[in-house]
Amino acid sequence: MIKEYIEQNKDRFLNELFDLLRIPSISADKDYAEQVNKTANFVRDRLIEAGAEKVEVCATAGYPIVYGEKIIDPKLPTVLVYGHYDVQPAVPLELWDTPPFEPTIRTTEVHPKGAIFARGSCDDKGQMYMHVKAFELMMKSNTLPCNVKFMIEGEEEVGSTNLGPFCINNKEKLKADVVLISDTSMIALDTPSIDTGLRGLSYVEVEVTGPNRDLHSGVYGGAVANPINVLAKMIASLHDENNHITIPGFYDEVLELTNQERVELNLAPFNIEDFKKDLNIDDVWGEKGFTVLEKTGIRPTLDCNGIWGGYIGEGAKTVLPSKAFAKISMRLVPNQASHKITELFKNHFESIAPAGVKVEVKPHHGGEPVVTPTDSVAYLAAAKAMETTFGKKPIPTRGGGSIPIVALFERELGLKSVLMGFGLDSDALHSPNEHYGLENYYKGIETIPYFFKYFAEMSK
Ligand code: BES
Ligand code: MN
Ligand code: MN
Repeated sequence: MIKEYIEQNKDRFLNELFDLLRIPSISADKDYAEQVNKTANFVRDRLIEAGAEKVEVCATAGYPIVYGEKIIDPKLPTVLVYGHYDVQPAVPLELWDTPPFEPTIRTTEVHPKGAIFARGSCDDKGQMYMHVKAFELMMKSNTLPCNVKFMIEGEEEVGSTNLGPFCINNKEKLKADVVLISDTSMIALDTPSIDTGLRGLSYVEVEVTGPNRDLHSGVYGGAVANPINVLAKMIASLHDENNHITIPGFYDEVLELTNQERVELNLAPFNIEDFKKDLNIDDVWGEKGFTVLEKTGIRPTLDCNGIWGGYIGEGAKTVLPSKAFAKISMRLVPNQASHKITELFKNHFESIAPAGVKVEVKPHHGGEPVVTPTDSVAYLAAAKAMETTFGKKPIPTRGGGSIPIVALFERELGLKSVLMGFGLDSDALHSPNEHYGLENYYKGIETIPYFFKYFAEMSK
């Protein structure tokens, strides 16, 4: 029944997603404000068509939150579906093989049956839209077994700043039993998995100022501190020879896993040769004493995300720059607290500034790490749903990325989340040529109704 409905509506499901992908909803870039708002209206219209009620585009201080619901019986459990309609910037455009907002289908080694290439195809429009289509399917076939609420935001990629207040101010409206999210990865199409944790985030921008103006690098060079040289050295000093982060106190709150937990984490299939081959690197890197799965799943990191300053135009300009800048992210794990780590970074980074320069650290958005239960009714329902459609029990894994709002769902709404993602790490999220497997898309639409079915049954 589920399969038939998908088969009959396959092309329409794809065309609708293509229309969604054509709208460049880049939340980080003000020039796209109109497009982001247009995307919210698009999602609203599709929710209405699918059969949702009380659908509204809720204004916030930033981009709106699309809400909709179908309450079939207040006594039945309620699933709150969360997703985001905004996407990352697509620049640098020249690295895309086809334009980011003109979706096309191509096959890849990982997706021999085809993948949709477009910004947001996997993160998160494609994954979010599976829920709208799965809902349509349940409505049309009269099989929605419990209540559902949708909350689709437009600011996830810029830190979900306005979703927190929205949740706090709408506790009654958002009352539910669990949050269901498809915005993470699984291991492979033939190896389903469910993330049971996400890392948190501290994000800062640093500015190093030397002389009051750009100088002739011959006339002054050698006698005046060069902010770029200084910044490079300061950033390099943040890791020691074992690639341990050197900020005092950085690891104090890190929850160490038991040996047993580490053994279980490493049971997930992972091929280091494939990993290296996919990235065209001759070796992996990182903190001594940990495997790749541990490095990305349960250990904190510090990475420079961007660095600039001085002359980067054509040819050579002999200049000793006045300023240098960098953006730095730290991925956090339980029980590190974002604001504390940001504070530790700031104090340390300012303290290591050599004489001759001024250093300023500006904190950006952050987010707390989360772990989700594997023994809840919702997790078990998700596992059973995936087992039904993939023919294999999903493996619990830790996701290295962040969805900061998940911690807030727990803290403010008292809701646990299930991270039933259908993307793959190799789908190039945030990178040029982002894509999402056609099979992943349709499998997701097929799996979600089973989640609802099992969740309703197992909640009894
Ligand atoms: N969907 C991702 C997070 C993700 C991806 C988690 C893959 C696990 C596996 C989300 O859209 C994202 O990119 N989050 C940002 C954080 C945000 C504050 C900008 C991130 O992780 O960088
Ligand atoms: Mn996402
Ligand atoms: Mn993202």
